[in-house]
Amino acid sequence: MTLTVRAAAKVNLALGVGGPRADGFHDLDTVYQAIGLYDDVTVADAASWGVEVRPVGEVDCAGVPLDDDNLAVRAGRLLADHHGVRRAAHLVVDKGIPVAGGLAGGSADAAATLVALDRLWGLHTADDDLLDLAARLGSDVPFALLGGTVRGTGRGEAVEALPAPGSCWWVVLPSAEGLSTPAVYRELDRLRPDAGPPEPPTGLVAALAAGDVTGVGALLANDLQDAALSLRPELAAEARRLRDVHQGPVLLSGSGPTLLAYAATHGDATATRLRLAEAGVTALVAPGPVAGAHVVEPVR
Ligand code: C5P
Repeated sequence: MTLTVRAAAKVNLALGVGGPRADGFHDLDTVYQAIGLYDDVTVADAASWGVEVRPVGEVDCAGVPLDDDNLAVRAGRLLADHHGVRRAAHLVVDKGIPVAGGLAGGSADAAATLVALDRLWGLHTADDDLLDLAARLGSDVPFALLGGTVRGTGRGEAVEALPAPGSCWWVVLPSAEGLSTPAVYRELDRLRPDAGPPEPPTGLVAALAAGDVTGVGALLANDLQDAALSLRPELAAEARRLRDVHQGPVLLSGSGPTLLAYAATHGDATATRLRLAEAGVTALVAPGPVAGAHVVEPVR
Protein backbone atom coordinates (compact mmCIF):
# COMPACT_ATOMS: atom_id res chain seq x y z
CA MET A 1 0.00 0.00 0.00
CA THR A 2 1.26 3.49 -0.82
CA LEU A 3 -0.12 6.96 -0.20
CA THR A 4 1.04 10.29 -1.64
CA VAL A 5 0.85 13.68 0.08
CA ARG A 6 1.72 16.94 -1.63
CA ALA A 7 3.24 19.95 0.19
CA ALA A 8 4.03 23.39 -1.18
CA ALA A 9 6.99 25.76 -1.15
CA LYS A 10 6.75 28.82 1.10
CA VAL A 11 7.64 32.42 0.63
CA ASN A 12 7.64 35.14 3.30
CA LEU A 13 5.64 38.22 2.32
CA ALA A 14 7.13 39.91 5.37
CA LEU A 15 9.98 38.55 7.46
CA GLY A 16 10.65 40.63 10.55
CA VAL A 17 13.58 39.26 12.59
CA GLY A 18 14.46 40.26 16.15
CA GLY A 19 17.76 39.85 17.97
CA PRO A 20 19.16 36.43 18.92
CA ARG A 21 17.40 34.59 21.77
CA ALA A 22 19.00 32.56 24.55
CA ASP A 23 18.18 29.34 22.63
CA GLY A 24 20.03 30.54 19.52
CA PHE A 25 16.87 31.17 17.51
CA HIS A 26 15.48 34.59 16.60
CA ASP A 27 12.01 35.93 17.33
CA LEU A 28 10.15 36.38 14.07
CA ASP A 29 7.06 38.23 13.00
CA THR A 30 6.41 36.88 9.55
CA VAL A 31 3.69 36.36 6.99
CA TYR A 32 4.11 33.06 5.17
CA GLN A 33 2.44 32.14 1.92
CA ALA A 34 2.32 28.71 0.28
CA ILE A 35 2.99 28.91 -3.47
CA GLY A 36 2.41 26.45 -6.29
CA LEU A 37 5.71 24.60 -6.37
CA TYR A 38 5.41 21.16 -4.82
CA ASP A 39 7.16 18.17 -3.37
CA ASP A 40 5.16 14.92 -3.36
CA VAL A 41 6.01 12.39 -0.67
CA THR A 42 4.90 8.79 -1.26
CA VAL A 43 5.06 6.49 1.75
CA ALA A 44 4.95 2.70 2.00
CA ASP A 45 5.45 0.31 4.91
CA ALA A 46 9.00 -1.04 5.12
CA ALA A 47 11.19 -3.07 7.47
CA SER A 48 13.48 -0.08 8.10
CA TRP A 49 13.48 3.66 7.44
CA GLY A 50 14.67 4.82 4.03
CA VAL A 51 14.30 7.76 1.67
CA GLU A 52 14.73 8.25 -2.06
CA VAL A 53 14.67 11.66 -3.75
CA ARG A 54 13.76 12.13 -7.42
CA PRO A 55 14.02 15.49 -9.21
CA VAL A 56 10.99 17.00 -10.90
CA GLY A 57 12.06 19.12 -13.88
CA GLU A 58 15.37 20.94 -13.38
CA VAL A 59 15.60 20.64 -9.58
CA ASP A 60 19.11 19.70 -8.40
CA CYS A 61 18.73 17.24 -5.53
CA ALA A 62 22.46 16.75 -4.85
CA GLY A 63 22.35 18.51 -1.47
CA VAL A 64 19.47 16.47 -0.01
CA PRO A 65 20.58 14.01 2.74
CA LEU A 66 19.52 10.40 2.16
CA ASP A 67 20.16 9.18 5.71
CA ASP A 68 18.56 9.81 9.11
CA ASP A 69 19.37 13.54 8.77
CA ASN A 70 16.68 13.82 6.12
CA LEU A 71 13.90 15.90 7.69
CA ALA A 72 11.19 13.64 6.23
CA VAL A 73 12.75 10.56 7.87
CA ARG A 74 13.02 12.49 11.15
CA ALA A 75 9.34 13.40 10.82
CA GLY A 76 8.36 9.77 10.29
CA ARG A 77 10.37 8.56 13.26
CA LEU A 78 8.98 11.33 15.48
CA LEU A 79 5.39 10.44 14.58
CA ALA A 80 6.00 6.73 15.23
CA ASP A 81 7.66 7.51 18.60
CA HIS A 82 4.80 9.86 19.56
CA HIS A 83 2.32 7.00 19.12
CA GLY A 84 4.65 4.31 20.43
CA VAL A 85 4.29 2.33 17.20
CA ARG A 86 7.16 0.13 16.05
CA ARG A 87 6.79 0.65 12.34
CA ALA A 88 9.02 2.06 9.61
CA ALA A 89 8.41 3.39 6.12
CA HIS A 90 10.12 3.92 2.82
CA LEU A 91 9.69 7.49 1.59
CA VAL A 92 9.93 8.64 -2.01
CA VAL A 93 10.20 12.41 -2.44
CA ASP A 94 9.42 13.80 -5.90
CA LYS A 95 11.10 17.16 -5.53
CA GLY A 96 9.74 20.15 -7.43
CA ILE A 97 10.88 22.72 -4.82
CA PRO A 98 14.42 24.04 -5.40
CA VAL A 99 16.79 22.81 -2.64
CA ALA A 100 18.44 25.05 0.02
CA GLY A 101 16.91 28.11 -1.58
CA GLY A 102 14.85 29.69 1.19
CA LEU A 103 11.65 27.98 -0.04
CA ALA A 104 11.37 25.50 2.87
CA GLY A 105 11.37 22.36 0.71
CA GLY A 106 12.72 20.21 3.57
CA SER A 107 9.95 21.51 5.83
CA ALA A 108 7.38 20.69 3.14
CA ASP A 109 8.70 17.10 3.02
CA ALA A 110 8.48 16.81 6.81
CA ALA A 111 4.89 18.09 6.87
CA ALA A 112 3.88 15.81 3.99
CA THR A 113 5.42 12.81 5.76
CA LEU A 114 3.54 13.55 9.00
CA VAL A 115 0.23 13.69 7.13
CA ALA A 116 0.99 10.67 4.92
CA LEU A 117 2.04 8.31 7.72
CA ASP A 118 -0.77 9.51 9.97
CA ARG A 119 -3.19 8.39 7.21
CA LEU A 120 -1.33 5.24 6.12
CA TRP A 121 -1.17 3.96 9.68
CA GLY A 122 -4.62 5.23 10.74
CA LEU A 123 -3.15 7.11 13.71
CA HIS A 124 -5.76 9.93 13.85
CA THR A 125 -3.27 12.37 15.39
CA ALA A 126 -5.08 15.44 16.79
CA ASP A 127 -4.38 18.62 14.80
CA ASP A 128 -2.73 20.31 17.80
CA ASP A 129 -0.43 17.32 18.32
CA LEU A 130 0.50 17.33 14.65
CA LEU A 131 1.38 21.03 14.90
CA ASP A 132 3.48 20.37 18.04
CA LEU A 133 5.40 17.56 16.34
CA ALA A 134 5.90 19.80 13.29
CA ALA A 135 7.33 22.59 15.48
CA ARG A 136 9.86 20.16 16.93
CA LEU A 137 11.09 19.37 13.42
CA GLY A 138 11.62 22.96 12.26
CA SER A 139 10.36 26.50 12.67
CA ASP A 140 8.34 26.54 9.44
CA VAL A 141 7.04 22.94 9.43
CA PRO A 142 3.76 23.94 11.21
CA PHE A 143 3.16 26.43 8.40
CA ALA A 144 3.77 23.73 5.78
CA LEU A 145 0.91 21.74 7.33
CA LEU A 146 -1.48 24.71 7.08
CA GLY A 147 -0.53 26.37 3.79
CA GLY A 148 -2.49 29.41 2.62
CA THR A 149 -1.39 32.73 4.08
CA VAL A 150 -0.35 32.61 7.74
CA ARG A 151 1.14 34.90 10.40
CA GLY A 152 4.10 33.24 12.12
CA THR A 153 5.49 34.41 15.47
CA GLY A 154 7.77 32.94 18.12
CA ARG A 155 10.58 31.39 16.08
CA GLY A 156 8.04 31.06 13.25
CA GLU A 157 6.33 27.98 14.68
CA ALA A 158 3.35 29.79 16.29
CA VAL A 159 0.94 29.95 13.37
CA GLU A 160 -2.32 31.78 12.81
CA ALA A 161 -4.18 31.60 9.48
CA LEU A 162 -4.84 35.03 7.96
CA PRO A 163 -7.86 36.09 5.92
CA ALA A 164 -6.32 36.75 2.50
CA PRO A 165 -8.95 36.65 -0.26
CA GLY A 166 -6.65 37.93 -3.03
CA SER A 167 -4.42 35.74 -5.15
CA CYS A 168 -1.15 36.64 -6.83
CA TRP A 169 1.69 35.19 -8.91
CA TRP A 170 5.36 34.68 -8.16
CA VAL A 171 8.33 34.43 -10.48
CA VAL A 172 10.84 32.23 -8.67
CA LEU A 173 14.50 32.61 -9.64
CA PRO A 174 16.55 29.84 -8.01
CA SER A 175 20.33 30.03 -7.56
CA ALA A 176 22.75 27.31 -8.63
CA GLU A 177 24.20 27.14 -5.09
CA GLY A 178 22.26 27.17 -1.80
CA LEU A 179 22.86 29.35 1.26
CA SER A 180 23.05 28.11 4.85
CA THR A 181 20.15 29.48 6.91
CA PRO A 182 22.14 29.59 10.21
CA ALA A 183 24.94 31.45 8.41
CA VAL A 184 22.50 34.08 7.13
CA TYR A 185 21.06 34.61 10.65
CA ARG A 186 24.61 34.90 12.08
CA GLU A 187 25.50 37.47 9.43
CA LEU A 188 22.36 39.45 10.30
CA ASP A 189 23.42 39.52 13.98
CA ARG A 190 26.86 40.76 12.93
CA LEU A 191 25.37 43.51 10.72
CA ARG A 192 22.72 44.48 13.29
CA PRO A 193 24.12 43.81 16.78
CA ASP A 194 21.52 45.86 18.69
CA ALA A 195 18.31 44.57 17.07
CA GLY A 196 15.04 45.08 18.95
CA PRO A 197 11.90 42.97 18.57
CA PRO A 198 10.69 42.17 15.04
CA GLU A 199 8.46 44.72 13.33
CA PRO A 200 4.79 43.56 13.27
CA PRO A 201 3.48 43.35 9.67
CA THR A 202 0.37 45.39 10.53
CA GLY A 203 -0.08 47.18 7.19
CA LEU A 204 0.50 43.99 5.23
CA VAL A 205 -2.05 42.04 7.29
CA ALA A 206 -4.63 44.80 6.59
CA ALA A 207 -3.84 44.84 2.85
CA LEU A 208 -4.20 41.03 2.73
CA ALA A 209 -7.55 41.16 4.56
CA ALA A 210 -8.77 43.79 2.07
CA GLY A 211 -7.69 41.66 -0.90
CA ASP A 212 -5.55 44.61 -2.02
CA VAL A 213 -3.08 42.76 -4.25
CA THR A 214 -1.18 45.91 -5.29
CA GLY A 215 -1.04 47.15 -1.67
CA VAL A 216 0.41 43.80 -0.60
CA GLY A 217 3.12 44.15 -3.23
CA ALA A 218 4.14 47.54 -1.88
CA LEU A 219 4.58 46.14 1.65
CA LEU A 220 6.74 43.07 0.92
CA ALA A 221 9.82 43.09 3.19
CA ASN A 222 12.58 40.75 4.33
CA ASP A 223 14.99 41.53 7.19
CA LEU A 224 17.32 38.72 6.04
CA GLN A 225 17.89 40.27 2.64
CA ASP A 226 20.92 42.45 3.53
CA ALA A 227 22.59 39.55 5.35
CA ALA A 228 22.14 37.18 2.39
CA LEU A 229 23.46 39.84 -0.01
CA SER A 230 26.43 40.39 2.27
CA LEU A 231 27.30 36.67 2.15
CA ARG A 232 26.54 36.36 -1.57
CA PRO A 233 27.32 39.73 -3.25
CA GLU A 234 26.55 38.31 -6.73
CA LEU A 235 22.89 38.23 -5.66
CA ALA A 236 22.71 42.02 -5.95
CA ALA A 237 23.46 41.78 -9.68
CA GLU A 238 20.85 39.00 -10.08
CA ALA A 239 18.27 41.12 -8.24
CA ARG A 240 19.07 44.08 -10.52
CA ARG A 241 18.63 41.89 -13.58
CA LEU A 242 15.25 40.74 -12.24
CA ARG A 243 14.21 44.35 -11.52
CA ASP A 244 15.21 45.35 -15.06
CA VAL A 245 12.77 42.87 -16.61
CA HIS A 246 9.98 42.94 -14.01
CA GLN A 247 7.35 45.65 -13.54
CA GLY A 248 6.81 45.12 -9.82
CA PRO A 249 8.36 44.25 -6.48
CA VAL A 250 11.41 41.98 -6.20
CA LEU A 251 12.66 40.42 -2.96
CA LEU A 252 14.70 37.62 -1.45
CA SER A 253 12.85 34.44 -0.45
CA GLY A 254 13.38 33.66 3.25
CA SER A 255 17.09 33.24 3.93
CA GLY A 256 17.75 33.00 0.18
CA PRO A 257 19.37 32.76 -2.22
CA THR A 258 16.18 32.32 -4.30
CA LEU A 259 14.86 35.65 -5.59
CA LEU A 260 11.17 36.40 -6.10
CA ALA A 261 9.27 38.77 -8.33
CA TYR A 262 5.68 39.51 -7.30
CA ALA A 263 2.93 39.96 -9.91
CA ALA A 264 -0.81 40.63 -9.76
CA THR A 265 -1.59 38.50 -12.81
CA HIS A 266 -0.41 35.31 -14.47
CA GLY A 267 0.27 37.34 -17.63
CA ASP A 268 2.66 39.72 -15.83
CA ALA A 269 4.52 36.83 -14.18
CA THR A 270 4.82 34.92 -17.46
CA ALA A 271 6.07 38.05 -19.27
CA THR A 272 8.88 38.34 -16.72
CA ARG A 273 9.71 34.63 -17.01
CA LEU A 274 9.89 34.94 -20.81
CA ARG A 275 12.14 38.03 -20.63
CA LEU A 276 14.47 36.09 -18.33
CA ALA A 277 14.39 33.11 -20.70
CA GLU A 278 15.43 35.40 -23.58
CA ALA A 279 18.50 36.27 -21.47
CA GLY A 280 19.18 32.55 -20.90
CA VAL A 281 17.91 32.56 -17.30
CA THR A 282 15.48 29.84 -16.15
CA ALA A 283 12.77 30.91 -13.70
CA LEU A 284 9.56 29.27 -12.49
CA VAL A 285 6.08 30.77 -12.20
CA ALA A 286 3.83 29.82 -9.29
CA PRO A 287 0.49 31.06 -7.92
CA GLY A 288 -0.13 31.96 -4.30
CA PRO A 289 -1.69 31.15 -1.97
CA VAL A 290 -2.18 27.37 -2.30
CA ALA A 291 -3.14 24.62 0.16
CA GLY A 292 -0.92 23.05 2.82
CA ALA A 293 0.03 19.35 2.99
CA HIS A 294 -2.79 17.28 1.48
CA VAL A 295 -3.42 13.78 0.15
CA VAL A 296 -3.24 13.55 -3.65
CA GLU A 297 -3.14 9.74 -4.04
CA PRO A 298 -5.14 7.86 -1.43
CA VAL A 299 -4.04 4.46 -0.19
CA ARG A 300 -3.81 1.94 -3.02
O1 C5P B 1 13.93 25.82 12.73
P1 C5P B 1 14.85 25.47 11.63
O2 C5P B 1 15.51 24.14 11.82
O3 C5P B 1 14.26 25.61 10.27
O4 C5P B 1 16.02 26.55 11.70
C1 C5P B 1 17.24 26.41 11.01
C2 C5P B 1 18.23 27.40 11.57
O5 C5P B 1 17.85 28.73 11.22
C3 C5P B 1 18.33 27.40 13.09
O6 C5P B 1 19.26 26.44 13.53
C4 C5P B 1 18.80 28.80 13.37
O7 C5P B 1 20.19 28.94 13.13
C5 C5P B 1 18.10 29.62 12.29
N1 C5P B 1 16.82 30.19 12.76
C6 C5P B 1 16.84 31.23 13.68
N2 C5P B 1 15.66 31.76 14.12
C7 C5P B 1 14.49 31.31 13.65
C8 C5P B 1 14.43 30.26 12.71
C9 C5P B 1 15.63 29.72 12.29
O8 C5P B 1 17.91 31.66 14.11
N3 C5P B 1 13.35 31.85 14.09
